[in-house]
Amino acid sequence: MSNVLYINKPSLKVARNRKDVSIIYETITNLGEHLFKDGYFFIHTYGCQANVRDEETMTGLLTNSGLERTNNVENATVIILNTCAVRENAELKLYGEIGKLKRLKKQKEKPIIIVSGCVVQQEEALELLINKYRHIDIFMGTNRIHHLLDLIKLVKKTNKRVVDVPSDDTTICEGLPVKRNEDFKAFVNITYGCDKFCTYCIVPYTRGKERSRKKEEILKECKTLVKQGYQEITLLGQNVNAYGLDLNDGSNFASLLEEVAKLSIPRLRFLTSHPWNFTNELIDVMSRYSNIMKYLHLPFQAGNNEVLQRMGRRYTKESYLELVNKIRAKMPSIALSTDIIVGFPGETNTQFEDTLDVVRKVGFSSAFTFIYSPRIGTPAARFKDETSKEEKSERFNLLKEEVEKVTEAYAQKLVGTIQKVLVDGFSKKDPNKLSGYTECNKLVHFNGGIDLVGKIVDVKIDYSKVYSLQGKIVE
Ligand code: 5AD
Ligand code: SF4
Repeated sequence: MSNVLYINKPSLKVARNRKDVSIIYETITNLGEHLFKDGYFFIHTYGCQANVRDEETMTGLLTNSGLERTNNVENATVIILNTCAVRENAELKLYGEIGKLKRLKKQKEKPIIIVSGCVVQQEEALELLINKYRHIDIFMGTNRIHHLLDLIKLVKKTNKRVVDVPSDDTTICEGLPVKRNEDFKAFVNITYGCDKFCTYCIVPYTRGKERSRKKEEILKECKTLVKQGYQEITLLGQNVNAYGLDLNDGSNFASLLEEVAKLSIPRLRFLTSHPWNFTNELIDVMSRYSNIMKYLHLPFQAGNNEVLQRMGRRYTKESYLELVNKIRAKMPSIALSTDIIVGFPGETNTQFEDTLDVVRKVGFSSAFTFIYSPRIGTPAARFKDETSKEEKSERFNLLKEEVEKVTEAYAQKLVGTIQKVLVDGFSKKDPNKLSGYTECNKLVHFNGGIDLVGKIVDVKIDYSKVYSLQGKIVE
């Protein structure tokens, strides 16, 4: 199979120059036809929660098509690698994984191999995949998941490789089938895409225009989850604060959050909040509902104002710290986590000190730390970067040390307290112990039986390790 059928090609330029285009709302009524008599599909998802939620839709579609999920790639009729492009390392790992699949095409029953997600949305990466990995059959864009079964049909019919990766698609699809990865914790999309265009970030190009789902659809999905007995909902968006701004009907994130909280889901969370546009109304709603978890992921990325400005972040160190104070004034016990990038082009050692200062001043409960990774097509990839790799690693290690200090101090404060924990299952590290997350999103290990999985239990915290807590169930 060497012919390539192009339905849509991605273009960074088109993604970058998009204007105020209108959103197309589409409701799918065909839940996926029975394409296969039997067989298995395999999906490996890399990256963020948006990808995990996309995986659940693909799983829904493929299950309806007659296939069953397998963890054994050797058995699969359909193989999907659902990719992440946010940093280079993830992308490099992916190429290794794709390479390994080639031998499966020598089998009598050749699987259909699909690459979806953010990597294929990048022009250069897509070209490399098309030319170098000829065993890939389908390249499917982040906003084309509803076409998955049609694309498979097309490959079967034409025996061609198919590319369906537009950069200007503004469709929001409702009614797609979903098979969730968990029975008691669920992700619910509220916005897709991102219009912030932080200068280091590829996401606005790969996930497209920021667009909000209609409130009725979100509430319908949440109500179904409550009815099904779900214990936790996480509302998802690249920047949830932007929810509703494109709907022009007065909706905003704070009022949406309040309406979902009123549905009485035991635990409600959201991801991710940009510090920009974090309203007083949102702080107020969070503080008034006990089922909205007192935990907030609030990426600050860098502590220096000049670096923040070059990152296009739209806030300063001072205004970030002020926001944190405002949030803590209303919710003193709130746990804050964050994302931090070191080694942004042009960042000096003195500027990096500001990042350490913010870490110390805020006292995060956890933090994801990254070394800056240039992404082709983003403005920052063209910025002058004279800092050596060694120096960046040194800063990264210093940052990790500081983050460990503050997160340990936070965890230490939980020792001796009783925490409500939603039990996930047996721990991956110690299969004799259960594990789950506190309201403040800390991982806890404790003894208990399988009957507790999916339930919220009280756990007394005995001691803390770097990344987790140990405790005992309180009867
Ligand atoms: N290099 C390093 N980290 C990045 N992130 C996003 N883009 C890059 C990049 N080019 C980080 C940010 C973001 C998180 C999801 O990934 O910290 O909040
Ligand atoms: Fe990327 Fe910034 Fe959008 Fe987050 S808000 S997805 S960092 S561009």
